[in-house]
Formats: sequence, C-alpha cells, structure tokens
Amino acid sequence: MEKLSSTRTLANGVKMPCIGYGTWQTPSGDVACDSVKAAIELGYRHVDTASIYENEESVGEGIRLSGVRRDEIFLTTKQWTNVRGYEPTIAAAERSLKALGTDYLDLYLIHWPAVAKGTPDWEAINAETWRGFEKLYRDGKVRAIGVSNFLVEQLESLKRNSDVAPMVDQIEFHPGYVQKETVDYCQANGLQVEAWSPLGCGRVLSDALVTEIGAAHGKSAAHVCVRYAMQHGVVPLPKSVHRDRIASNAQVFDFALTDAEMASLDSMPVTGYSGYHPADAPAG
Ligand code: A2P
Repeated sequence: MEKLSSTRTLANGVKMPCIGYGTWQTPSGDVACDSVKAAIELGYRHVDTASIYENEESVGEGIRLSGVRRDEIFLTTKQWTNVRGYEPTIAAAERSLKALGTDYLDLYLIHWPAVAKGTPDWEAINAETWRGFEKLYRDGKVRAIGVSNFLVEQLESLKRNSDVAPMVDQIEFHPGYVQKETVDYCQANGLQVEAWSPLGCGRVLSDALVTEIGAAHGKSAAHVCVRYAMQHGVVPLPKSVHRDRIASNAQVFDFALTDAEMASLDSMPVTGYSGYHPADAPAG
C-alpha cells in the first residue's frame, strides 16, 4: 500500500515523495518552524517553500529540529520574479541555500514565468534564467530543476531554448480548477505536475459535491482534494499550520475515489480559483 513517503520518479531519476507539505502564507518564526517540524514528525518527507514566502530560515530550522536527516527530506524552494537572468539566478539560489541552512536543494523552481504581456523579450529572459538553473543543476547545488505556473506556451518556448528540460511544473490544481491543457502537456512530455493550493486555499472544502463525495467514504473534503490530485498523477502540497490538520491531510491512503467520482469532480464549475494567472504574472 502507498504511504506518505512513497515516491514519484522525476525524469532524471530523482524520487519525490507523493505528498508535499506546503508553506505558502505560513508566517516565519515559530509558526513555520513548529509546523514544519510537526509535519516531518507526522511522516511528511517533502517540504515546499519559496523565497517570496519569507519563511525559508524558519522552514530550515523546523527541518533541523525534526531530527530527521536532511537527505531523507525532499526540499523545494523557488526563485521570485524580481530575479531574472543567469548571474542573478546563481546569487538567488545561494541566498536561499543560506537561509535554509543547507548546501543543496532537491528542487529549485522559477516561481512565475516572464510572459508576453508586459515583457516583449520574455522568451530570452526565461531562457537566460534557465541557463542559471542548468548551471546549478550541473554543479550539484540542486538535484532537480523545474518551473512553476508555466503554461504550454512558456514550456514550449523553454524547450526550444534550453539543454535540460524542466522536471517539474508546479501549478494551481484542485477540484474546480484543473488546468487540463497544462497537465496533459506535462504528462505527455515527462514533467511531474505538482499542485499548489490543492484545497483551493481552503475554499473548496465547503463545496457540496466535494463534501458529499468525502462523506460517502467516511472522509473529509480535504481528503477528497488530496486524493483527487494523486489520482490525476499530480503531487499535492496541502498547507496547514495546525498539527491536527497536517496529520489529517495525509490520511488518504485508505480509500480511493471511483471513476465516476473523479469524472464528476473533473466537471465541477470553477471553484476556489485563486485569481492568479500566469498571463498576469507579477513582472518583478
Ligand atoms: P490553516 O493553515 O489555518 O489550517 P491550500 O493547501 O489549498 O492552499 O489550502 C490551505 C488553506 O486551507 C489554509 O487556509 C489552511 O488553514 C486550510 N486548511 C488546510 N487543511 C485543512 C483542513 N484539513 N480543514 C480545514 N482547513 C484546512
């Protein structure tokens, strides 16, 4: 039977635990430190942060305080949009490594792409940033490299302008917002999709259909959301700062959604969408 430490294999052979612990909107200091430590104590082996979350120091501290060895944790961080290009990328990665208190990352992501709207030379900018990612990868500073919030247009552009293909695309994904075109493209091209806000930032948890499907299995709406991502081959990154919810969100290995339930969740109207779209990505 699968469990929290079961893994998905990225295109370069690196193994990523099938559920990650998300830390977006988790305040730095004790809250981030204690909740990351709790998540690891509860069995999570995959932690996701970003420089813009401003909690990297506390996330790193939480990992150390957990007592679990660094090489047993899959750690991701992301480069914000105010950093573009080759040299700035290398410098930003060094800052994140220092903040996290580690000498390597398991995964480093471009947080948002440069896009045509507002940035005419977006293709060259993304390619130049990616060259920095490739360098970090070749130097062994990061075990895998990827992107976040890239749509097919930006992924195709990167493919034309790079040597190493991204191994991951982390996008908003939950019942009520599935970005099917992007997921299909990634799955056809060997990119592992990760789901940020797999609970729709908590907004999907009060949806009647999601709740009803959960009840049919004796499970919560959050369980349905986490399972939904996993059954789509997507790695969910649920976030909570509460120990009981952190524990509960991982109790998803004792049931499965039926094909009919997956189909009805697939056809939900837009629900819980964050409003953040790559076409309007922050220019930095
Ligand atoms: P909190 O951190 O106070 O628990 P997402 O992962 O989709 O971004 O959703 C995160 C939001 O959902 C946060 O507001 C979080 O609040 C809330 N949340 C996480 N897990 C649960 C849960 N099991 N039940 C209710 N709310 C939850």
